[in-house]
Amino acid sequence: MIKRWYMRFSDMVVMVTGAGRGIGKAIAERFASEGAVAAVCDMSLKTAEETAAAITAAGGKAEAFEMNVQSSDQIQTVIDRLIEKHGKIDVLVNNAGITIPGPVVDFQESDWDLMIDINLKGVLRCSQRVARTMINRKSGSIITIASESGKTGKPLFSLYAATKFAVIGFTQGLAMELAPYGIRVNAVCPGIVRTKMWESLDKDLARLQGTKEGEALELRKKNIPLGRLEEPEDVAGVAAFLASEDARYMTGQSVNVTGGREVH
Ligand SMILES: NC(=O)c1ccc[n+]([C@@H]2O[C@H](COP(=O)([O-])OP(=O)(O)OC[C@H]3O[C@@H](n4cnc5c(N)ncnc54)[C@H](O)[C@@H]3O)[C@@H](O)[C@H]2O)c1
Repeated sequence: MIKRWYMRFSDMVVMVTGAGRGIGKAIAERFASEGAVAAVCDMSLKTAEETAAAITAAGGKAEAFEMNVQSSDQIQTVIDRLIEKHGKIDVLVNNAGITIPGPVVDFQESDWDLMIDINLKGVLRCSQRVARTMINRKSGSIITIASESGKTGKPLFSLYAATKFAVIGFTQGLAMELAPYGIRVNAVCPGIVRTKMWESLDKDLARLQGTKEGEALELRKKNIPLGRLEEPEDVAGVAAFLASEDARYMTGQSVNVTGGREVH
């Protein structure tokens, strides 16, 4: 008889940061659709509750938490509540992130601090604390949503690239540290994903480059080998794969999901 593989998420607890909307929301929905309990975390409790309600209405299991990845206390509180209720966290998806585009010469130090605190230190804070619980159980998977900007730097995105290169390096090092415990650590590098982040980026780039709104996105769309913009679900599918048994021999990897824009 042919052996069949399933994602086997039915008794899993998955903690997703920045899951109130966009890519994080799609990831929470995808894991829940495979049977996992989705811990929907966002700095905005309102949007976290909306995502959780949508999952529940669709027959899935979800819990909403207010959690800003800049706050170690809030992160620890969520982890403690999940461990108390479910006894474990199987998967952490570090998704929360921001981007502030602009020329390096014009950047304020407060902009650097904010982006580094969320995009890099937010990943460190969550990974460190969740890894401690996974080490005890000798199993788990940590997935960080990096970016194609973590592979190649681009003008006006230098600081963003610095944070995303950093989380890829962190992913590699942490993967080696946690491999002896059977914990896998990987990253996903999306390209141009249709979310609120790109809606506001398009406006920012129009202002910075003197173009019309919509032009920045249209120009980039022309350069996507697969010929369409990326959807949050395109990222969610790869995140689910990385957490699944099918990816059991993958760790320390940063997988491009860019429609062919990034190939290294
Ligand atoms: N949209 C893209 O084209 C794209 C491409 C590559 C990588 N990414 C990465 O994917 C991730 C998600 O991006 P998106 O496009 O869905 O963004 P988005 O702005 O649409 O959604 C981000 C979510 O994260 C939450 N968030 C922001 N700061 C937070 C914080 N400090 N603590 C907790 N939650 C916070 C927001 O409230 C929001 O719900 C980010 O890490 C981003 O860098 C996005």
